[in-house]
Amino acid sequence: MNAIAFTGVSKSYGPVRAVEGLDLTIDAGSTVALLGPNGAGKSTSIGMLLGLVRPSAGEIRVFGDSPDTAVKQGRVGAMLQDGTLVPGLTVREVVSFIRGLYPDPMPLEEILALAGLTDLAGRRADRLSGGQAQRVRFAIAIAGAPRLLVLDEPTAAMDVESRRSFWGSMREYAATGRTILFATHYLEEADENADRVIVVARGRVVADGTPNEIKAAVGTGTVRFTIGDQPTAGLDALPGVTGVEIRGSVAQLRTTSPDATVQALYATGLRVTDLEVRGADLEEAFLSLTHDN
Ligand SMILES: Nc1ncnc2c1ncn2[C@@H]1O[C@H](COP(=O)(O)OP(=O)(O)O)[C@@H](O)[C@H]1O
Ligand SMILES: [Mg+2]
Repeated sequence: MNAIAFTGVSKSYGPVRAVEGLDLTIDAGSTVALLGPNGAGKSTSIGMLLGLVRPSAGEIRVFGDSPDTAVKQGRVGAMLQDGTLVPGLTVREVVSFIRGLYPDPMPLEEILALAGLTDLAGRRADRLSGGQAQRVRFAIAIAGAPRLLVLDEPTAAMDVESRRSFWGSMREYAATGRTILFATHYLEEADENADRVIVVARGRVVADGTPNEIKAAVGTGTVRFTIGDQPTAGLDALPGVTGVEIRGSVAQLRTTSPDATVQALYATGLRVTDLEVRGADLEEAFLSLTHDN
């Protein structure tokens, strides 16, 4: 059965078309990234999926039911962008309270362990760092042992180490057969943590595939260097390279794997100077995908 089905779903706010004709189905048990720049319609889509935002057109099913029904039955857990934590309570009290609202919750200690909160359980939930607070929001989202977990840019306030441990927790939860949909504007996060990546821009799906397919479509970076008047043949055959542009004495390679490209580039024996490696300008890549559509 599909965990999620959107059929012709649109949402407008006055003249703003936040989501336009979204058709998609998500298999139960998969981990899917909704990847797109700010304003793409990710949060609006998630809001509609949770029954918090009413579509202007179209239909949404969650495990075959309406979003309201699925949420009421405790089959959906969510971590939203602007969730505030109740002041004055400890982490354990907050999680335990939320847990009590569900018919068949996870054991408290299991939730705390999975969210990496065991050592913080006695701390006040409103006095945590950004990354720690996000872990509490994650704990709240999984408390009811939902079959579908929805995360809207969950790592926004986190440093590198918190991100790493957060995605570890998420993958552990996914490994129990649950369905996960998360929004992000980082290609890297989508690549590392999802089975499938749905790229949205301006309210529409502009690409949909495995992380490898998406990386090949958008590229993940550019490698620029001065090549002078040396021969440029063969640059397009270097690992990861999806495009080559020569401007005067400067070569620019678009690549899905900057590390592999740079290594192979040095191995060619070419004299490479002024080497510059840049991550993909995703905004630009997304917009070019949109124009192709
Ligand atoms: N409540 C709202 N009222 C008016 N416009 C909104 C509202 N929510 C979202 N929008 C607009 O809809 C578009 C999509 O927003 P959003 O879904 O938040 O994108 P994302 O989460 O991908 O950044 C944006 O242009 C945004 O300004
Ligand atoms: Mg958003």
